[in-house]
Amino acid sequence: MKCTAKAHTNIALIKYWGKRNESIILPTNSSLSLTLDGFYTTTTVDFREELSKDEFFLNDQLVSGEQYNRVTTFLDLIRTYAGKKLYATIHSINEVPTAAGFASSASGFAALAAAGANAIGLQLTDRELSMLTRQGSGSACRSIYGGFAEWEMGMKDDGSDSFAVPIAPADYWDVRVAAVVLSSTMKKVSSREGMKRTVETSPFYTGWIDSIPNDLKQIKEGIAARDFEKVGQIAEANCLKMHATTLGANPPFTYWHDTTLAVMQTVQSLRDNGIPAYFTIDAGPNVKVLYLPENENDIQKTLRGIPGVTDVILSRSGQGVTYL
Ligand code: ADP
Ligand code: DP6
Ligand code: CO
Repeated sequence: MKCTAKAHTNIALIKYWGKRNESIILPTNSSLSLTLDGFYTTTTVDFREELSKDEFFLNDQLVSGEQYNRVTTFLDLIRTYAGKKLYATIHSINEVPTAAGFASSASGFAALAAAGANAIGLQLTDRELSMLTRQGSGSACRSIYGGFAEWEMGMKDDGSDSFAVPIAPADYWDVRVAAVVLSSTMKKVSSREGMKRTVETSPFYTGWIDSIPNDLKQIKEGIAARDFEKVGQIAEANCLKMHATTLGANPPFTYWHDTTLAVMQTVQSLRDNGIPAYFTIDAGPNVKVLYLPENENDIQKTLRGIPGVTDVILSRSGQGVTYL
């Protein structure tokens, strides 16, 4: 009753930002992402008769508190589906900074769901696995698939139509992402708390929701035509709209640091110099830059030269969940 699974993070090009149901994680809008091969989590779940509670090790450290509660609450779901009251030892290694805006919750819960479901003997389709994973962390439901994936928000109250679907596999199009690292420390406002505060208090929230259907339609057309400029423009504008909602929240907040803005301006000036590049930012200060392979050297050199940038990690389109 032991299984190891590996899952990659994903970067949202159309962001998930808001829940309509917090307990089973139903979003207020559909979202679309690219899975990244450069960042991933490997998790082993081992269910054993002799345990009276779960024990969770993250990067070889025994975890307690909120991070432990999220894992054990998620495993309760798996135990209920399987009809087995067995506890597990979980060992997880994040090849991604934890809770710093690099989507560790996406790779973390996708790997946990896959390893946990498999270890306890559940035979799930990708769609069922995505639906299960969604309840650990929303963005994680897209990491079941490689390449481009869309999380369809669904309409039902029970969540049975809220899961991710594959849009195009990893080898469909060689779009690359440079993760520009300014800070790997844990963020002050988690994604969960940030989106909740925004939904509840930001007057800009309705504008965000209204703009989603057209952004999704346009970006899917762009992906279908492998139109890099179109995909990049839509993704960058969508990111700015999401971050604008946080400034309207009460109390107001932003995930940006001063260097975040410097990176954004540099990306704009790369474009002015004829190099197509577009940025997107999740719930954290670090910036992800979309680019094409032929511009890799220029992109990397320019981004590394920005004062305040500590690292630039290059990533290609990644695969979906795998079992080791
Ligand atoms: P991020 O930008 O890293 O996704 P979030 O605030 O969305 O930040 O989520 C971070 C939280 O996700 C962590 O505090 C922890 O609760 C959970 N998490 C991260 N990695 C793992 C993992 N490998 N296994 C289980 N839970 C994880
Ligand atoms: C800005 O999936 O981390 O990265 O569902 O509460 O775990 P929970 O939140 P999470 O939120 C991700 C927000 C985002 C956008 C995105 O990935 O779509
Ligand atoms: Co997250």
